[in-house]
Amino acid sequence: MSDVTVIGLGAMGTALADALLRAGQSITVWNRTADRAAPLVQRGATQASGVRQAVTASPVIVVCVYDYKASRAILEEVGDALVGKVLVQLSTGSPLDAREGERWAKAHGADYLDGALLATPSQIGRPDTPIFLSGAESAYRKAEPALKAMGGGLMYRGGEAGAAAAWDIAALSCMFGAMFGFFHGVRVCEAEGLSVEGFGDMMGQISPVIGEMVRSQGKAIAAEDYGHPESSMEICAGSGTLFLRQAREAGIGSEFPTFADGLFRRAMAAGLGEEKLAAMIKVLRA
Ligand SMILES: NC(=O)c1ccc[n+]([C@@H]2O[C@H](COP(=O)([O-])OP(=O)(O)OC[C@H]3O[C@@H](n4cnc5c(N)ncnc54)[C@H](OP(=O)(O)O)[C@@H]3O)[C@@H](O)[C@H]2O)c1
Repeated sequence: MSDVTVIGLGAMGTALADALLRAGQSITVWNRTADRAAPLVQRGATQASGVRQAVTASPVIVVCVYDYKASRAILEEVGDALVGKVLVQLSTGSPLDAREGERWAKAHGADYLDGALLATPSQIGRPDTPIFLSGAESAYRKAEPALKAMGGGLMYRGGEAGAAAAWDIAALSCMFGAMFGFFHGVRVCEAEGLSVEGFGDMMGQISPVIGEMVRSQGKAIAAEDYGHPESSMEICAGSGTLFLRQAREAGIGSEFPTFADGLFRRAMAAGLGEEKLAAMIKVLRA
């Protein structure tokens, strides 16, 4: 018996398996393309000859493959070998995928945890790597030692299986939203002959300020408190107009300015000019 089985040895699955080995866990691995296990076997992993053997080998089964469909196709082969195991699904998916995964696992006699990795493979195993998890707390406790090896920033989001995937999508929306804004900012710098690297460095430096802004918007929305703004929607909407004008003047793409200006216009048309920026949520809810 090993401590943990890892199914799926792509870039992420391999990083997870490596982190487990570094933490001193004994692991069994399986991948559709068997050759990919070779470097891990050299570092001490046991390679299972088939999925059923892989599942039988450990009490905790971690799956990290392309998507839930691939995962289901793999696990359908194992029959009753999942009975009594903790299945930890770390492939990326939606909350509905997670709920269906939990139903399927329970029907096959396994406890289920759904997880989402807010990290790249090279960030796995660090003390602050954020990993969201949800599902039965008893399953979380059983899998915790293995999960801790994968990332110190474990965030258990409660018993509802879909919660980890929802947190992941919400966090990714925030991250990619910021990145699209950053890329437009790069075009502004390029148009003015400014250092793009310097722009990246500066945004990295001021990111705690942006973090504070995000936190305060969250608080305002949770409290439905949109009055007495320090910076009103009308003032913020001026940025949308400015983005568009500058893009026209510099002859750069206006995808991001058009998106931002469109939302600001809707907020102004809805009469939110004197409210906080957080009132934008009313436009998105409408
Ligand atoms: N890479 C990242 O930065 C990152 C970050 C967060 C989350 N994730 C998530 O982690 C999961 C794995 O990502 P990855 O980066 O490891 O991807 P990857 O390098 O492309 O590896 C994909 C894995 O899925 C397996 N696979 C795909 N289709 C399959 C099928 N039909 N049957 C059996 N196995 C199948 C592949 O097996 P073969 O080797 O046989 O092709 C391989 O093990 C994804 O859900 C991804 O969204 C990745």
